[in-house]
Amino acid sequence: MTEAQTTTTAPGTTEHADARPGLNKQSILWVDDISVSFEGFKALTNLTLVLDPGELRCVIGPNGAGKTTMMDVITGKTRPDSGHVFMFGQTVELTERTESEIAVLGIGRKFQRPTVFENLTVFENLELALKAHKGVFKSLVWKLQGEQKSRIESALETIGLTERRDSKSGLLAHGQKQWLEIGMLLVQDPKVLLVDEPVAGMTHREMDKTAELLRSLAGEHTVVVVEHDMDFVRDISGGGQVTVLHQGRVLSEGTMDEVQNDPKVIEVYLGKPEGAEAE
Ligand SMILES: Nc1ncnc2c1ncn2[C@@H]1O[C@H](COP(=O)(O)OP(=O)(O)O)[C@@H](O)[C@H]1O
Ligand SMILES: [Mg+2]
Repeated sequence: MTEAQTTTTAPGTTEHADARPGLNKQSILWVDDISVSFEGFKALTNLTLVLDPGELRCVIGPNGAGKTTMMDVITGKTRPDSGHVFMFGQTVELTERTESEIAVLGIGRKFQRPTVFENLTVFENLELALKAHKGVFKSLVWKLQGEQKSRIESALETIGLTERRDSKSGLLAHGQKQWLEIGMLLVQDPKVLLVDEPVAGMTHREMDKTAELLRSLAGEHTVVVVEHDMDFVRDISGGGQVTVLHQGRVLSEGTMDEVQNDPKVIEVYLGKPEGAEAE
């Protein structure tokens, strides 16, 4: 007898699995053939993206390429017209789930604008994020347990704000607020972190520190960084994969050097002077 077929796939997914046999069952996140349209306008067309556990993936592309829509689909904010999003190989399908279910499954998202509570201290913001995630927000008897406390301490260390733990968040610099918000995701112990344009408005020094922070998160977490700033992408991608989106499709994928030398990319994105309009 040949090897037993032990693969378990959710109903209705067999066709996809068979269509891409190599497509790895160990992927942490698999955006599979997603299409989204808004009143006839195609924001995403057959978008496929496979992320390995611990990978740091940069996603770049001109305005309107579909980057934010992709994150909206992954996090359950937008329902796709067709396609699937799988976590943990193919064991969990996300497109039927609610935003909070997806967050609990381990996908954390950082929006572009920091949303920290300015009147609370750094520590209190982290505590609140942990409580909110645990669903004990309304509980009167909830107290920080040892393990949870050390999770906050470790997040403080990672984001470099240990010394500012008792400062009101409103007093932090812009970059520090962004790091605090990353910390607020970290205490929720996400498997995947989606980060939308983290360095917008940052000083060069803050950008360097952010690059370092995001790189340090990869390995233990899978990190997806959507970013316009090419220097920043070059800085953090290292030899890792960069995905270029254009008009809702993957235009190119490879190392930064590979995509930067891809004629398709040069034509639609990199080669065009800043602010130039396509014909
Ligand atoms: N809710 C929506 N309704 C209509 N059009 C939308 C909506 N969200 C996004 N779009 C359109 O989809 C395209 C992709 O947008 P978006 O994902 O925000 O791109 P990016 O983040 O790469 O700049 C844009 O043309 C945008 O105008
Ligand atoms: Mg966007």
